[in-house]
Amino acid sequence: MQRIFSGIQPSGIPTLGNYLGAIRNWVALQADHDCLWCIVDLHAITVWQEPAELTRATREMAATLLACGIDPARHVLFLQSSVPAHARLAWIFNCVARLGWLNRMTQFKDKAGRDREAASTGLYVYPNLMAADIHAYHATRVPVGDDQRQHLELANDIGEKFNHDYGTDFFPRIEPLILGPAARVMSLRDGTKKMSKSDPSDQSRINLNDDAEAIAQKIRRAKTDPEPLPSEPAGLEGRPEARNLVGILAALTGTDLAGVLRAHGGQGFGAFKGTLADALVATLGPIAAETRRLLGDPGALDAILRDGAARAAAVADPIVAEAERLVGFLRLR
Ligand code: TYM
Repeated sequence: MQRIFSGIQPSGIPTLGNYLGAIRNWVALQADHDCLWCIVDLHAITVWQEPAELTRATREMAATLLACGIDPARHVLFLQSSVPAHARLAWIFNCVARLGWLNRMTQFKDKAGRDREAASTGLYVYPNLMAADIHAYHATRVPVGDDQRQHLELANDIGEKFNHDYGTDFFPRIEPLILGPAARVMSLRDGTKKMSKSDPSDQSRINLNDDAEAIAQKIRRAKTDPEPLPSEPAGLEGRPEARNLVGILAALTGTDLAGVLRAHGGQGFGAFKGTLADALVATLGPIAAETRRLLGDPGALDAILRDGAARAAAVADPIVAEAERLVGFLRLR
């Protein structure tokens, strides 16, 4: 069975983008894979996080993932900072990756903004840690949203260069799994921008803990254009906001763009937005309620994460120890 690894940052409330682009696919993949799901708190601090808020958001992320259907009994749910193997391998990868490779990373450019000199060095080497997350488990399949594609290409470049430099085939190739009609959910205010936890406008996103009223209001106010919906996907060309809303409904109802347009083509956005809001409330309402219930017992959440860390370390420790041996670190007897 192929091993799957994926991660999510506890840097805010997860959004509909995280859910449709990643978490929902993770849940489905659990049926026939051996999976590791990691809350990447080391990645989160590459930009400033208020310490108490990071602690709170980390537990909330664990509760949300469980509420979405992550199964901690058959798979592994854990915190990145609980398994030191990630940081050990990341250091080796800092010495394998080239500056030129990191300079090409578009997410660094986006996140660092104009004042690049003021960005943390952690933000710069962020993709090296991400490569370490995956390679520390010899994971070969990584389900992510479309925005992580470039990072996964880099993870393969790093694995390949390590293998070449040390004359080995130790790190396998990684296959990105970028799945479904909502692999890139866009902002509700601007169809050319990704929906993001960190967008300053709360109106730009659906948070997984939004109540029915907030969801309906955000969808009602979502930017659209004046034309009715086309009857075929080709008609969405040049209409990013329409494409986004159709993609969201397709993902929620288990169909594709063509399927949604067969049912709703010709409709105006007033009616369509009502259908979309109802579908969102039907999916997200139970997740928010279950998240709240799980947060009522932080001890139980911590026990799941502690058990996950021990099981993750049991896989990663021998792999990273072997990488260290290949590098030539003296193993003391
Ligand atoms: P993060 O926390 O930004 O997002 C978690 C997952 O959600 C996906 N995603 C989206 N998908 C569709 N539309 C969107 N608007 C949207 N926003 C986010 C992301 O693609 C991601 O799959 N670097 C990663 C975390 C990470 C990781 C890893 C992932 C660290 N180590 C190893 C895979 C393997 C990140 O920042 O995710």
